[in-house]
Amino acid sequence: MMRMGARGGGGSRPGVSTDLPPVSTRRLYSLLWPYRGRLALSAVLMLFTAAVGLVFPLGVRRLIDSALVEADAEQLNLVAVALLVMFFLESIANFTQSYIVSATGERLGTDLGLKVTDHLLRLSMRFYDTRRSGDILAIVNSDVTLVRSGTLGTALPLLSQVVRLFGSIAIAMSLNWRLALIVIVIAPAVMGVAIFSGRRVRALSRATQEEIGQATAVLNEVLANVRIVKAFARESHERARYWDRMASVLRLSLRRARAESAVGPIITFLSFGAITAVLWFGGREVLAGRLSAGDLIAFLLYLIGVAAPIGALTRLYTQLQQALGAAQRIFALLDEPAAVTDAPDAISLPVGTGSVEFRSVEFAYAPDRPVLHGLDFAVAPGQTCAIVGPSGAGKTTTIGLILRLYDVTGGSVLIDGCDVRHATQATVRDAMALVPQEPVLFATTVAGNIRYGKLEATQQEIEVAARAANAHDFISALPQGYETEVGERGVQLSAGQRQRVAIARAILRNPRILLLDEATASLDNESEYLVQDALDRLMKGRTTLVVAHRLTTIENAHQIVVLENGKCVELGTHQQLIETHGLYERLWSRRFVEELPPVPSSADPEAALPIEMKTEATVSRP
Ligand SMILES: Nc1ncnc2c1ncn2[C@@H]1O[C@H](COP(=O)(O)OP(=O)(O)O)[C@@H](O)[C@H]1O
Ligand SMILES: [Mg+2]
Repeated sequence: MMRMGARGGGGSRPGVSTDLPPVSTRRLYSLLWPYRGRLALSAVLMLFTAAVGLVFPLGVRRLIDSALVEADAEQLNLVAVALLVMFFLESIANFTQSYIVSATGERLGTDLGLKVTDHLLRLSMRFYDTRRSGDILAIVNSDVTLVRSGTLGTALPLLSQVVRLFGSIAIAMSLNWRLALIVIVIAPAVMGVAIFSGRRVRALSRATQEEIGQATAVLNEVLANVRIVKAFARESHERARYWDRMASVLRLSLRRARAESAVGPIITFLSFGAITAVLWFGGREVLAGRLSAGDLIAFLLYLIGVAAPIGALTRLYTQLQQALGAAQRIFALLDEPAAVTDAPDAISLPVGTGSVEFRSVEFAYAPDRPVLHGLDFAVAPGQTCAIVGPSGAGKTTTIGLILRLYDVTGGSVLIDGCDVRHATQATVRDAMALVPQEPVLFATTVAGNIRYGKLEATQQEIEVAARAANAHDFISALPQGYETEVGERGVQLSAGQRQRVAIARAILRNPRILLLDEATASLDNESEYLVQDALDRLMKGRTTLVVAHRLTTIENAHQIVVLENGKCVELGTHQQLIETHGLYERLWSRRFVEELPPVPSSADPEAALPIEMKTEATVSRP
């Protein structure tokens, strides 16, 4: 299970995700498998450059001994030219392999980003109910980058540095094993220091990454709700929330910087110590006639050949560990199963007339908190079914189950006689259109938003839908008409206008089942009239489930489902329910079917109501 909300919690080690399953290096590197062809080519080139690096000091030794010891000018020229040619070839190989690695990195980054996005789109509502979009964005943005650089940036260099390291040691041994022993004693010490500090840097950088995720989440929330932030003058509150996060980002980053900065000087000191030791000991060997001057220089170069890979390996190790931390979050996300999936033998929803049936439906969001109990009702094709009940009764949940945004925990939901779990999600949702209370628009043009209902719609179809939705007039009056951008989430339109665009979208979809969740609840009278008029047209001839608060909609419904605490307490037409003298009559007589506090099931329901609502019951309907 992926945990994001609890980031940085627990108070022990900030941000270290102890409850995410660990990721093996093997799994991390398995990401490179699809690119194995190019990487193999790159590896060959890289081994060539490593070999050149290894041979170079031998060339230098030849050069020096030719000039100084043997005084052979011709040989000197020959060796110099050979070295030049070798380095020229090495540059070409280096360029090619470095380009291959970078290009593959870009590809891996986009592929992985796409894979994560694909999976995110496949995940069902259950996942999103408990996650913050900022946390998810941090995974897609920074973690993918870290993994990219941590796989491609490490795999081949690791190989190359190991070759250089052991190659240098081997050649140094053959030149003078006594000298080489000095190196062999010092190298593991340097390595140990490096790995120890690398581990610390890794833990700190992972914690930093998690805190950055939190800060992004805060900022993301502020940006999404900037209107509320401003309206409540909570700028400084949000600033403080953001700063809280950034302060720990800074603190952790500084600690990491300190740890990182210490690594270099320590290693440098050890390396220079080794060089001094070699020069001193080597000088004695030369004096003793056991070593030539060329040998000593070559040896020094091999010593550098040992030190450089050690430095590089520590950097690679840190980078790899960072990537493993990021990969933990990415793989946890990719491993997250979708709660709602198409059955392996899922069929296309049979084309029918649009009947909807709930058979003893049980549902719970959380395992031990049931929301719907034994819900049983059927809506005949073309009929309108109103769902009423106090706030929190389970009306929106019921609509969600028809769309199969969640799977029932008991019983079944049938569309045209087919259990929604037996059909593919795409065909189930193709049969319906949802108009929610808060219409959701995308930051594109008006036409683009309407077209969302049917992507291949022509301009003319869009206009017909807009007219039917009472939206054509206001759209035509916009500066660029249908091509006007509506701003993020449609902020440049009024609520009533947004709702009519949403209705046009539903009309364009031409579904056989229409789901309206309090589509007019938040509108003023004028907009409500226009929206309702459009809805009436849209509802004609379609099976409609409407969570309603408008009396006429409810009264005209063929059937009314009265929900209370997730149970269907009354079922019938308006007339029948009035005669029942139950909850419906009480709600109706208040002319206020929605947004009452939930009625306590045991006590006298009236007792729970504020005074002013009780008096409203005596006011006669207009
Ligand atoms: N995504 C969710 N996760 C957990 N509980 C939820 C979720 N959505 C709604 N609930 C709970 O389910 C119950 C019914 O909610 P809902 O169907 O939205 O009520 P209504 O639309 O009738 O006001 C409420 O108690 C609510 O707290
Ligand atoms: Mg609701």
